[in-house]
Amino acid sequence: MDRRRFLKTVVGVGAALSVRGIVDPAALPSAWAAPSFKGVRRSNLSTDEPQTSLRNVTTYNNYFEFSSEKDLPATLAKDFQPRPWTVAIEGEVAKPGVYDVDELIKPYTLEERVYRLRCVEAWSMVVPWIGFPLADLIKRARPTGKARFVEFVGLYDPKRMPGQRSLTMGLEWPYREGLRLDEAMHPLTILAVGLYGQVLPNQNGAPIRLVVPWKYGFKSIKAITKIRFVENQPATTWSSYGPREYGFYANVNPTVDHPRWSQARERRIGEFFKRDTLPFNGYADQVASLYSGMDLRTHY
Ligand code: MTE
Repeated sequence: MDRRRFLKTVVGVGAALSVRGIVDPAALPSAWAAPSFKGVRRSNLSTDEPQTSLRNVTTYNNYFEFSSEKDLPATLAKDFQPRPWTVAIEGEVAKPGVYDVDELIKPYTLEERVYRLRCVEAWSMVVPWIGFPLADLIKRARPTGKARFVEFVGLYDPKRMPGQRSLTMGLEWPYREGLRLDEAMHPLTILAVGLYGQVLPNQNGAPIRLVVPWKYGFKSIKAITKIRFVENQPATTWSSYGPREYGFYANVNPTVDHPRWSQARERRIGEFFKRDTLPFNGYADQVASLYSGMDLRTHY
């Protein structure tokens, strides 16, 4: 009797939690049967810090096209079909084009890049991405002398992305991001198509996303549909939403606080105690020179 009552309670709790999307068995990595990548190169640009669990990486997400709640993208994006998918390369390039995503990535050697990810909300993770340098794609596209920035555009499809139907979110769609051309060409900047050795889960930005590890996570746009080379600094989603709170550069900087909270420390997901946030998220040796002579208090 006791055992049956116990089981009933456990099932009840599970069902209650799954309504909120906290424990949706289908969203858990054990049920995630994505194809894996073979022959992926390791990279000496990876950190050897302990990696955040696959479960946390895939169930604690910021993906406002689906929801502003961290636990919901895993459930709400479960049936999203990231293929067929095209990516347009356009603007100031000698070789513009619209490519099927799998054709687009075919020429490149995939690498594993284990990077720290620091969200502007003061939490962080360590994620083993699979991807390739954005610089490789840029070289093939051959930017003209006028190209000074690269603009990235996400998907606009309110039928498939419930967050885009929200009347209260206040964000402009599609999601947009941008980098200066030299930031985009930096060897640390990658386009990711997988994580933990497997195809990118929908909630992490399938089929293709940007990863810029020295900047706050919002720069790393998910589900890219356009990569556009432009002369002037493009408008971006979060800096249009709150220009005083979210800058264009968004380099991780423990000495420049968000107007509403400190950026000095962060909580690594899966850990209890907070740790100090490092300038440029610990990548200063490699990227600080990109900003020499710039006042990073003004260009936050
Ligand atoms: N890209 C799109 N298209 N939509 C988003 O809401 N959120 C950003 C970024 N890229 C976001 C996005 C933010 S705030 C963060 S911290 C990271 O994605 C989170 O990536 P993850 O869920 O894979 O950890």
